[in-house]
Amino acid sequence: MTQTRDSFHSRIGFVLAAAGSAIGLGNIWGFPTNAANNGGGAFLFVYLVVTLLLALPALYAEVYIGNQAQKNPVSALGDACKNFSERLGRYGGVIGLCGAIMMLSFYTIVAGWMLSHALSAISQLIGLTDLSTWLATSSTERNLIFTPIFILLGAAIIHQGVNKGIEKWSTRLMPILLLMLFGLIIYILQQPGAIEGLKVYLIPDFTQITNPELVISAMGQAFFSLSIGVGGMMVYGSYMQKDKDLGKLVLSITALDTGIAFLAGLLIIPALFVAQHAGQQVFQDNQLVGEGQLIFHILPELFASMGSIGLVVATGFFLLLSIAALTSTISSTEVPVAYLVEDKNVSRRKATWLVSAVVLFFSMLLIAFFDVLFGAFIRVLTTILQPLSCLFYFIVVGWLWHRGNKLRDKSLQHGRKYLVMWGNYLRFVCPVLLTVVFVNVAILN
Ligand code: PHE
Repeated sequence: MTQTRDSFHSRIGFVLAAAGSAIGLGNIWGFPTNAANNGGGAFLFVYLVVTLLLALPALYAEVYIGNQAQKNPVSALGDACKNFSERLGRYGGVIGLCGAIMMLSFYTIVAGWMLSHALSAISQLIGLTDLSTWLATSSTERNLIFTPIFILLGAAIIHQGVNKGIEKWSTRLMPILLLMLFGLIIYILQQPGAIEGLKVYLIPDFTQITNPELVISAMGQAFFSLSIGVGGMMVYGSYMQKDKDLGKLVLSITALDTGIAFLAGLLIIPALFVAQHAGQQVFQDNQLVGEGQLIFHILPELFASMGSIGLVVATGFFLLLSIAALTSTISSTEVPVAYLVEDKNVSRRKATWLVSAVVLFFSMLLIAFFDVLFGAFIRVLTTILQPLSCLFYFIVVGWLWHRGNKLRDKSLQHGRKYLVMWGNYLRFVCPVLLTVVFVNVAILN
């Protein structure tokens, strides 16, 4: 059966959609939380190194596989492994698909917090103080309401296809988020205590950088932030015409994503120290107090300290974050949806609702057993599933395709010898580096 596939109309369309997937809560919530829990500067340093050495090549491999196959991730990996074992390839795709569902089940909970904080600021603006306080306080009831709302919102957009509206929308809104981040950074750096935070963030304690816990968290964060290893970038790569210059595109996506994470750290870490300076208990034994939700208390406090304009800034900030989260969930949802539509002949509409129902089930499970499952899901996804998928991508591009010499032929054709080196880097260095980190994960668990 021939499918007419949706596609991006331009390379910039692809870059923006992929950046929309990459830039999200991982940058604004995950990165600063992780950095604050792992000594600030040392984490930032290792994160940048891992991004460059491992995450960027993995993103390249993932997009490349999708782009070559022009199919959903399960079929794309099946095709890529044809010479060896198509079935094994498809299993690899299914692992990514499970990762996408896992990601969605906790991500939609955090995204729900964003929505409720945005509404909290709005209610405060219109004088509904009690409602505002309820919306800003974390509770199971709040999760039970806002997680499904967020899932519904995502489903409503996804079932319409590779939607141009959201693409255009997010490109217009992302620059506003950037401006807001800059404005807030300038504001926070003038508050008492901020400079201490700035130092912690920017001056690495080099005795920490070989700490295996830190390296593993940094790797997990880098993979999560670039959305690699769950098939989302592969499916986006498959929606673009075959392209000779994937490297440049992947580089731009990485630069945008890493830049935003860096800026978020520049805002949040000093903000944590400002709160601590004001007498709040932010750290205990060098760890953030509370299950990663603390940042959402610190931010509203920061906005409140700005006086009357604070509520407007808070509304804008949390709404923009909700949108950034939405564009990230779209790429993950697209993985199982594309698989069901292309391989199982399910209508797009049905596939979307089916996937959303599964995500809703898992997110409700996470809410019910929050203390046990929430952190565990994040850890299993980012430190086991995503790196495992990436190892698989490296083997496909570096070894299975090497037989056909795809990468090398292409590079020599274009007279670019450095691409041969790049091929060898993907083939030899990346799998070894990843394996070393894996052995450490195994030892630590
Ligand atoms: N990269 C997204 C973020 O930083 C999260 C994400 C992970 C999206 C995996 C898709 C797939 O928020």
